[in-house]
Amino acid sequence: MSIIYTPEKKLFTLHTAGSTWQMKVGRYGHLLHAYYGKKVEDMDLSCLIREMNRGFCGVPYEAGEERGYSLDTLPQEYPAFGVGDYRTACLHAVHEDGSQAAELRYVSHRIYDGRYQLPGLPSVRASRTETQTLEILLRDKSSELEVVLYYGVLEQADVITRACRIQNRGKTPIRLLRALSCCVDLPDGNMDLITFHGRHAMERNVQRTRIPHGRLSAGSTRGTSSHQSNPFVILCDPDAGEDWGNCCGMTFVYSGNFLAEAETDQTDQTRIVMGIHPDGFCWTLEEGDTFVTPEVILTFRPDGLGPLSRTLHDLYREHLIPRRFLEKRRPILLNNWEVTEFDFTEEKLLSLAESAAGLGMELFVMDDGWFGERNHDKSGLGDWTANRAKLPSGLRGFSEKLRNLSMKFGIWIEPEMVNEDSALFRAHPDWCLQVPGRSPNLERCQLVLDLSRQNVRDYLFDCISKVLDESQASYVKWDMNRNLSDVWSAALPASRQGEVSHRYVLGLYELMERLTGTYPDILWEGCSGGGGRFDAGILCYMPQIWCSDNTDAVERTRIQYGTSFGYPICAVGAHVSAGINQQTGRQVPLETRAEVAMAGTFGYEMDVQRLDASEQEQVRRQIQNYIRFEHIIRLGDYYRLTSPDTDETLAAWQFVAKDRTESLVSIVALHPKANPPFRRIRLKGLEEHAVYRIDGEDQVWKGSALMYAGLPVPPLWGDYQSCHFYIRRL
Ligand code: DGJ
Repeated sequence: MSIIYTPEKKLFTLHTAGSTWQMKVGRYGHLLHAYYGKKVEDMDLSCLIREMNRGFCGVPYEAGEERGYSLDTLPQEYPAFGVGDYRTACLHAVHEDGSQAAELRYVSHRIYDGRYQLPGLPSVRASRTETQTLEILLRDKSSELEVVLYYGVLEQADVITRACRIQNRGKTPIRLLRALSCCVDLPDGNMDLITFHGRHAMERNVQRTRIPHGRLSAGSTRGTSSHQSNPFVILCDPDAGEDWGNCCGMTFVYSGNFLAEAETDQTDQTRIVMGIHPDGFCWTLEEGDTFVTPEVILTFRPDGLGPLSRTLHDLYREHLIPRRFLEKRRPILLNNWEVTEFDFTEEKLLSLAESAAGLGMELFVMDDGWFGERNHDKSGLGDWTANRAKLPSGLRGFSEKLRNLSMKFGIWIEPEMVNEDSALFRAHPDWCLQVPGRSPNLERCQLVLDLSRQNVRDYLFDCISKVLDESQASYVKWDMNRNLSDVWSAALPASRQGEVSHRYVLGLYELMERLTGTYPDILWEGCSGGGGRFDAGILCYMPQIWCSDNTDAVERTRIQYGTSFGYPICAVGAHVSAGINQQTGRQVPLETRAEVAMAGTFGYEMDVQRLDASEQEQVRRQIQNYIRFEHIIRLGDYYRLTSPDTDETLAAWQFVAKDRTESLVSIVALHPKANPPFRRIRLKGLEEHAVYRIDGEDQVWKGSALMYAGLPVPPLWGDYQSCHFYIRRL
């Protein structure tokens, strides 16, 4: 049993393979948090819930003179605003009389095998035997507002998931100004929060901050999870590192506005909450209505950030990314974007594809520019029919010609957007998000279609289906090139406008579900100007996401490093691009560009017709190598061997097959030095006593030697050289 209820103590204990979560119904009915951490044998840990009169900390009315029983200091499972807890809260409800209060108390609970359902939202998948659910019903002491807390325990996967359902059982409306998904209250202060910040073309930089008194938050109000922040954070001990220390990952399975907010409270306890960002959010629950929050995945590891990442990587592969994509190798593609941008003809693309096929590539992706009057980024978005001036054979004819070259066909779409200069906008100007009487904020000359509207989604489903039927595409890149602003829907009344951002995301998920469900054999890649929507929500529908528009291999080592904390390598879209990088002008050797792209879903985005004979040979070899190692990359364990924050000269990472019989180590020199110090890299994840041989070398190594003594790094002379080692157990 992974969920245990001890009735005489009103105690709930949740066990995963390596962690324990415990909570207790307090003597006045509040659901109090007792423990989250490394697995402990069954025991009542509610002694950790301590009470002391702290002064200026009120108590619930019935607690009277028990001045230590204060919601302001007690650790809670789902804290609410307005009733004496002044820390960051999960719930902020406004009643019809204008009062802003909710004092949630335990009513009942239910434990069952299998998963809870979150209608319309993506979430972790698991069979009845893999998971148990605990539902706890809480009710506001003085109104008909109810909250059902969901706890999903995936014992073997070693994670707990949380979400909740908020319902109005009364007759008068209730407005929710905050409806977050989860709170973790820990008794210790002095903890670190690791967040992943960035910007377009430089996503997921790692930032580690001591959680201060006062609030520290990461979040997005951009309508998407965003380049600037990522809905994954890690709460950890200050001394936690790659291979040691307590750490807790929190992943929000959501692609829109989010908030992860932490604080050290007045008595040095730590609280962190996660959910939909409250800025601009207001959701009205009429009589009988329900609001369901997106899911948070909680992962606890006592042994460091590396194991935390690997637990998450396994979870994504087993329980989140649709399974059908994990079972086979993804095709090696050529994408024309960095080669031609909008300026191409069918002839040009076919000749590129032919050269690519000759080098061993398997899929040709026609990126932006193939439809409507899309000759630049100022027009055409929304008009999803082939531009016959560029593609005289149409989508059907073009893809047939590709297949004759033994190339599969992949296509780019950006369904959520419209240019003002498009037939779609001219026909339906009210279909986009914009505020009447205000000129909308433009980004890349485009506006966002109002996906909260069923008719807009139906239209998109129909026209994208036509594109897919006609083109027989086997791959789709779903792009999204701006943030939401002027969020106002012509289809909703004034009182409901605070719902639009979330309704947009629900609409997006419905459309993704319909399209990916109707075309299950297509390989889908998410994208938002690179990694502007790199999140667990998208990965429930699409197995991979274009990691960044920055294809500079050196910068990519940092971006992919940051991404690897929360996301598996098999989800990371990565391509080999031109010798002189388009974004930075940096020149990186072809070998190194491929080395870095191999830590992802490998492909090319360069003019392969400009390669000389020796470069062509290199590309052929790279493709063979990738095919040889791909199973370890897709299915194996990933180890970060260096950190860009502490190592300016090398970037190194390692894949190890699950059975530890094979491993691939990649090393990239970031900064050549004169008269350099010798370097060795200590490997990880091998079997200590097993004997390994490095491909191409005679010497054999014990696993312990490779891991503790380390592998000597060969001299890497010149800019950004790289090497890899393939290691096999004998
Ligand atoms: C942004 C994407 O990230 C690029 O790869 C490319 O598809 C462009 N959009 C096309 O407009």
